[in-house]
Amino acid sequence: MKPSSLSLLKFLRTRDSPLLRIRTMTITSNPPQVRDDLLCSDQQQQQSDLQIEKPPEAAPASLGAPGRVLSIDTRVEQAWAHWKKLGRPKYIVAPMVDNSELPFRLLCQKYGAQAAYTPMLHSRIFTETDNRNKEFTTCEEDRPLFVQFCANDPDTLLEAAKKVAPYCDYVDINLGCPQRIARRGNYGAFLMDNLPLVKSLVEKLAQNLTVPVSCKIRIFPNLQDTLNYAKMLEDAGCSLLAVHGRTRDEKDGKKFRADWGAIKEVRNALRIPVLANGNVRCIEDVEDCIKETGVEGVLSAETLLENPAVFAGFRTAEWAKDNDEEGYVDGGLDQGDLAVEYLKLCEKHPVPWRMIRSHVHKMLGDWFRVHPQVREQLNAQNILTFEFLYGLVDQLKELGGRVPLYKKRKIDTLQESPQKDLES
Ligand SMILES: Cc1cc2nc3c(=O)[nH]c(=O)nc-3n(C[C@H](O)[C@H](O)[C@H](O)COP(=O)(O)O)c2cc1C
Repeated sequence: MKPSSLSLLKFLRTRDSPLLRIRTMTITSNPPQVRDDLLCSDQQQQQSDLQIEKPPEAAPASLGAPGRVLSIDTRVEQAWAHWKKLGRPKYIVAPMVDNSELPFRLLCQKYGAQAAYTPMLHSRIFTETDNRNKEFTTCEEDRPLFVQFCANDPDTLLEAAKKVAPYCDYVDINLGCPQRIARRGNYGAFLMDNLPLVKSLVEKLAQNLTVPVSCKIRIFPNLQDTLNYAKMLEDAGCSLLAVHGRTRDEKDGKKFRADWGAIKEVRNALRIPVLANGNVRCIEDVEDCIKETGVEGVLSAETLLENPAVFAGFRTAEWAKDNDEEGYVDGGLDQGDLAVEYLKLCEKHPVPWRMIRSHVHKMLGDWFRVHPQVREQLNAQNILTFEFLYGLVDQLKELGGRVPLYKKRKIDTLQESPQKDLES
């Protein structure tokens, strides 16, 4: 029978591997945050999902024979052919460290996402340690998929990219991370200070991989610098560019609005597909962004964490109640139910507990604000189990009814959902 899921977790299959022994020891001797690094399958010994499927015979897409330098016209043509073959996805899950992992991607896909990025993987660590590969899992339904790496060495990046190429539709280079760890590690947005290095990273992948290379960037304070940067990436072989419309210094997404004007200029200056990122709180924002910038699709990050159903048109109370005149009604979907769906996906596709903990905090955030004592229980729980987490949702339901997600009232029916929000 064909395995239902792919995984690079080879070491877990080997019961007597040294890595497994080391990991088992950490269960008893390490502090809570390290326990959270364990896969959620460890305590239950559910390893049936951790199978390695033989990579597909042929790579899913090809930009010509590796090693060949193609003309810009040919590359642009192939970039569009590839994008069209993927169905030109508009609704895209942005890369999020510890948060855009397989179960979350699948949950978002069920509620309207048409493509997704993995969390950023560190190319050097990915090539050096098998253990690190537990950060990347995928399965057949998990497509179209961008696998994102940070890197500052072309050969290391290529080595890492080759490992994941059979399982994805793009290998993406993170050129946007503005965090201190990226400054220390010399990657992400700090490569904006070394554009020749960026060029060499893109060229290396474009000329040696059969899977297209994409990049995710931030903008420069000066528009012309941004346009020169984007053109350089396209010329180097980038097949798709995602533009986060904030500068490296504009770290706080709540404080700084993304500059859709700059994204529009990039879109108009390039010939390859361009995606936008920033300012998306609801599905109407996605449509507005596409109309205003002309991009192919839109990435969302923070909003999806609280509301994984945003691409299906659902809004949290925060974004619905302020707009009562537009007529938002209970959409018949509850944040607690979404959390349960997510947990079930985690049982099927194991991930480290720290990712699950993070999602539960975000998805149940509205409930926790009303019942902080339940959040305290979660914080106090050093070793998580699914039983505990399902119990947490039950407890919140008993305490506070529902926390519904809202949808725009249908003009023709004007019908309220039969379910009632007990908190309002
Ligand atoms: C928890 C979290 C983790 C993130 N990790 C990554 C990452 O691994 N790679 C990346 O390029 N951007 C990362 N980002 C940035 C997002 O992809 C996105 O560019 C940013 O949040 C702006 O989009 P938004 O306004 O929809 O949140 C992360 C953002 C969040 C909130």
